[in-house]
Amino acid sequence: MQFDVWSKALPDLSVECIAAGVFEDGKLGTETTALDKATGGLIKDVVVRGDFSGRAGETLLLPEAGLKATRVVLVGLGAERSYGRKAWRRACTAALTTAGRTRIRTVALAIERPAAKELDDYYFGRCVAEITGQVLYRTNDLKTGKKPPVPAINLVLAGPVRATGVAQAKRGLEHGRALATATALQRDLGNLPPNVCTPTYLADYAKGLAKRHAAVKVKVLDEAAIRREKMGCFLAVTQGSAQAPRFIVLDYQGPRAARTAPIVLVGKGITFDTGGISLKDPGAMDEMKFDMLGAAAVIAAIAFLAETKLPVRVVGLVATCENMPDGLAIKPGDIVTSASGQTVEILNTDAEGRLILCDALHYARRFDPSIVVDMATLTGACVIALGAHHSGVMGNDETLVAELVAAGVRADDRAWPLPLTEEYAEQLKTNFADMANVGGREGGAITAGAFLAKFTQGMKWAHMDIAGTAWLGGALKGATGRPMPLLTDFLVQRAGGG
Ligand code: BES
Ligand code: MN
Ligand code: ZN
Repeated sequence: MQFDVWSKALPDLSVECIAAGVFEDGKLGTETTALDKATGGLIKDVVVRGDFSGRAGETLLLPEAGLKATRVVLVGLGAERSYGRKAWRRACTAALTTAGRTRIRTVALAIERPAAKELDDYYFGRCVAEITGQVLYRTNDLKTGKKPPVPAINLVLAGPVRATGVAQAKRGLEHGRALATATALQRDLGNLPPNVCTPTYLADYAKGLAKRHAAVKVKVLDEAAIRREKMGCFLAVTQGSAQAPRFIVLDYQGPRAARTAPIVLVGKGITFDTGGISLKDPGAMDEMKFDMLGAAAVIAAIAFLAETKLPVRVVGLVATCENMPDGLAIKPGDIVTSASGQTVEILNTDAEGRLILCDALHYARRFDPSIVVDMATLTGACVIALGAHHSGVMGNDETLVAELVAAGVRADDRAWPLPLTEEYAEQLKTNFADMANVGGREGGAITAGAFLAKFTQGMKWAHMDIAGTAWLGGALKGATGRPMPLLTDFLVQRAGGG
């Protein structure tokens, strides 16, 4: 897929399709007016005749409009009053979806841009590439038989961009393209069936990534090495599974970033969560193959960095195993010792994510990190609290939490802060160990955070609960690609901005 900005006059652009917008009241967008003139009023006619209303998301493909471009796709922008970044995103999505159903290979987007304060040139470029990636993504299914035709689009030109903004827009397109690739990777890893996407599979993927990029180094710990690290909580989760666990260390060294304190990203990589002896209901258990999307986000973030060559140092840590019931599996009441030395009474074997994360977070210490951010599909309680709209974010450093929230706003991949105050840790008290792994139903997303906080003292740390945002159930079942937009925006800002 190639991206660029268009700069010629629209009527002279030799692409197979130009996408142009019309407002709900029939008013043509700025670029659409120019196109209309060049077509001798064809677009206006279509609107006046009532063939196109300008409703948000509506599209109409006009062949042979008398331009250099062989087709025009009109896209509805909705009401002009409420036209902003969201409506623009929707219009771009609709136009590319319609073009993608044809044999069109090259598209120029000439859709009215929202005000610059809502979408500057960098984010404009970044969003165009991101949206293209979302529209063209197809699930890596294992259906046999005839596949539906895939879109032919291989070049998208973005505009309008003023001469002074071209460099920024191009940088945005570059970052957006890397984001699209990384997002597709994260989704692919999540959508794979759990008998394919095992801990070994994730580790092998990480090894391949390091092979392809000189800036990425990898180390994979097998069960014996994990034991040498005394990761008793991680080992407890994997002990009921026939699949071997893996602990993956990815190290990205960007240009000029040697010997700087790294950002450490930590991902939950449960490749299947049955709940263990505290077995889950069968209802939607298949969706627990998505319980590794935090890990996939970390791997994909490293891929994004390798692609964009950002000047930062980022270490990615992934603890990955299955959570299975078995004769050898952990039982409610078992007490294990974490790598930090703290003991944990496992009262519910389905609260396994925090058990693998606590040992990974402790491992982060050896890097003397500037900050640590973990990503995990951690709690059903977070889904109840925030639904599928916001990821939950909490931590021990307000500035870091605010930074993540701000990245989510800029990237249209929002996160909401949850109050991780001292009181929640009280709920983890038990008579038999330093802490229990659950704290009751109340405030369940936050007590999970309070558990993790016991392993991150002295480090600047934030936790993102992506249980509600990382995948969809029902007819649209599949990984959404979140939190890749937020996470990559955060890393770009940390590297000094777009
Ligand atoms: N992977 C689940 C969290 C989850 C549940 C994500 C439903 C998305 C939808 C996690 O391992 C889990 O089972 N958490 C338990 C914790 C509880 C036992 C304290 C939960 O949320 O029910
Ligand atoms: Mn669980
Ligand atoms: Zn889980």
